[in-house]
Amino acid sequence: MTGQFNRGQFNRGLWALAAVLSAGVAIISYRYLPRLGPLAANVMQNLFHRPWLDVHVAGAATALLAGPLQFLPRLRARRRTFHRWLGRIYVTGCLAGGSGGLVMAFGVTAGPIAGIGFGSLAVIWLITTGQALRMALARRFDAHRAWMIRSFALTFGAVTLRLYLPILPLLGFSFLDAYRLTSYLAWIPNLILAELYLRGAFARRSRPALASQQS
Ligand code: HEM
Repeated sequence: MTGQFNRGQFNRGLWALAAVLSAGVAIISYRYLPRLGPLAANVMQNLFHRPWLDVHVAGAATALLAGPLQFLPRLRARRRTFHRWLGRIYVTGCLAGGSGGLVMAFGVTAGPIAGIGFGSLAVIWLITTGQALRMALARRFDAHRAWMIRSFALTFGAVTLRLYLPILPLLGFSFLDAYRLTSYLAWIPNLILAELYLRGAFARRSRPALASQQS
């Protein structure tokens, strides 16, 4: 009982932290649309930034804002229409963000290593989100939930990237090496954590079923 209470509290705390960080990064990122405030010089030199940066930022930042709300169980259960509409907005955001991200991956000034990192992220992001949508349309909701967890772990890469990028130079990496490394580090651990979470959740759910089969 106490263990369950603590796990619930821990999950809520983790959700709140992820939601605040996601909203912060999303809101700050929208500045690229009117080109306001400090803009990363290397990104403005991306070969395909016009018009793809706008497509990318508008879509990806909106997905980052919408995503966390979709994981609130109460909102999902009581406001189904809201969940469906926000889901459409999330998926549209990911498709626009992923397409823009994929095109820009071919034009990064940091070279092909970073390009392959961002490009792979874009392709896997599009695939996981597409699978999540397909499963929802097929009314396979357990699979839908699992693919959405994978999709959001990748969307959240925008947050982890901005956490790692300032830390790596403190460990002695040049900005360029840090940038290349983060194009992988920002999302591969997120995806591994999502898989571990899904395996744990599946094991927890099948344990009572197994126990009832044995008794
Ligand atoms: C998850 C898949 C994503 C991919 C594949 C991706 C890809 C890219 C690429 C290739 C660039 C240009 C980098 C360069 O030219 O050096 C970029 C920049 C940018 N992306 Fe993404 N991105 C993703 C997610 C997101 C999300 C969820 C956001 C939401 C806020 C976001 C916001 C931005 C912003 C604001 C920039 C400008 C650069 C900066 O301020 O660091 N991206 N992205």
